[in-house]
Amino acid sequence: MPKMETFQDLSLHPSTNQKELWRWLYTELRAAILDGRLRAGTRLPSTRSLAVQYELSRGTVITAFDQLQAEGYIRTEVGSGTYVATGLPDGPLPTSRSKPAPALPQSTATLSKRAQAQLKDVVVMPAPHSVGKAFRAYEPAIDLFPADLWARTAARVLRRAPRSLYGHGSAGGYQPLRRAIAEYVGSSRGVRCTPEQIIVTSGAQQALDLLGRFLLDPGDSVWMEDPGYPGAWQTLRAAGARIIPVPVDQDGLNVAAARKLSPRAKMAYVTPANQFPLGVTMSADRRIELLQWAAEAGAWIVEDEYDAEYRYFGRPVAALQSLDRSGAVIYVGTFTKMLFNALRLGFLVLPLRLVGAFEAARTLVDRHPPTLDQAILSEFITEGHFGHHVRKMRQIYAERMAVLKEAADEHLGGLLDVTNAAAGMKTVAWLKTGTSDKAAAAQARRLGLEMIELSEFSIKQPLKPGLLLGFAGCNPDELRRGVSVLAAALRNPPALR
Ligand SMILES: Cc1ncc(COP(=O)(O)O)c(C=O)c1O
Repeated sequence: MPKMETFQDLSLHPSTNQKELWRWLYTELRAAILDGRLRAGTRLPSTRSLAVQYELSRGTVITAFDQLQAEGYIRTEVGSGTYVATGLPDGPLPTSRSKPAPALPQSTATLSKRAQAQLKDVVVMPAPHSVGKAFRAYEPAIDLFPADLWARTAARVLRRAPRSLYGHGSAGGYQPLRRAIAEYVGSSRGVRCTPEQIIVTSGAQQALDLLGRFLLDPGDSVWMEDPGYPGAWQTLRAAGARIIPVPVDQDGLNVAAARKLSPRAKMAYVTPANQFPLGVTMSADRRIELLQWAAEAGAWIVEDEYDAEYRYFGRPVAALQSLDRSGAVIYVGTFTKMLFNALRLGFLVLPLRLVGAFEAARTLVDRHPPTLDQAILSEFITEGHFGHHVRKMRQIYAERMAVLKEAADEHLGGLLDVTNAAAGMKTVAWLKTGTSDKAAAAQARRLGLEMIELSEFSIKQPLKPGLLLGFAGCNPDELRRGVSVLAAALRNPPALR
């Protein structure tokens, strides 16, 4: 039988804390057994010699052995010694110490045909390792988020939370949060609703998913702004919708063109306050035209206002929902951009006739949103912190936009024409005609910038070459640095053809 008198293979123990020491020894020995460094039948050193060798108390070693024995990794024979158990598989088992299993080839081939079609060109966004990188497009100023205030609010809410909040929550969301949202969208966006019309969701994305699943049948046509938001068209397409790309001009979605393309569409998806990605505001005439069409066609209008709070100049325009008299508009809002991405809380404002059905539908999806997070957000809003943060960010983002514009005018003149965004957290920058925006963005990424080319957002309509530059999440120094790196990227002509 193999014998182990001394064992040199353990990593150094991390501390002198007795509790951590036995766990360290237990974990090390277990890993050595599982990955085959200690084979079945091997005799372990005595507790006394292990204690001496690793400068542990004997009690620590005995506690680790007891645990390993209780879990069946080792057995003790009285008068003979302690051995690695023989019932374990012979070869190495995967453990955190052994090499990770090779990644499966990236393939959706084993999924259902439906899923394969749904996942066509869906890109998984990696979790970033840092905040504030130029020119990340989907991030608010996380560096300036009042995390201490959030933590204090959370502590207070959790301390006082009645036990009932730990039970099953309500399908539409936590009632005080629904009230707070109804009040906020009413006063700041002119949305007309009662708290019952609010359905709290996991960000705008889940709101869009619910709308696709429960309002569309396979083959239903949906007008989609082109260029537009992939998160919307991919989700609605996954629900079986036939996406009808509709051109966008300086007044927003071209309703006359859409009527010609598909007069009897079931839904229109629009971003009227700040068109994604071009940043135009839908004109009053277009809003009326769109509402008229929806009333005639019995269609839904999905109004996505993910960053409408941030308007820097020009006339603030109330939500399209505020003009709706026929109950066609479904409003989608999100806190992920107004507060921070990881919050994953957003909401739908539904026409009353849909509320009951959506509460039932929610039961099939995730039952209800997490109650305690909602309670914290609700308190954050009602205490006035949310309003204060948004007002502060509006000013900071305007300043950041100005820094970007100034730096771009100075260093990128003739290469890139950066639009002075009237609203939102990102802006469009136009490249010279004939440039490939894909190549330009790839070159910028190679030099370490985060960059998305405009053509990524085109469904079908040809688009002038351009880049999408996020500015809200980057501090002024990072923006200036980003501009000079971008200038270097764009001056590298071979990559741009
Ligand atoms: C048009 C549009 N809608 C919604 C969102 C937000 O989605 P979520 O709340 O799922 O993060 C984004 C993200 O940037 C967006 O660009």
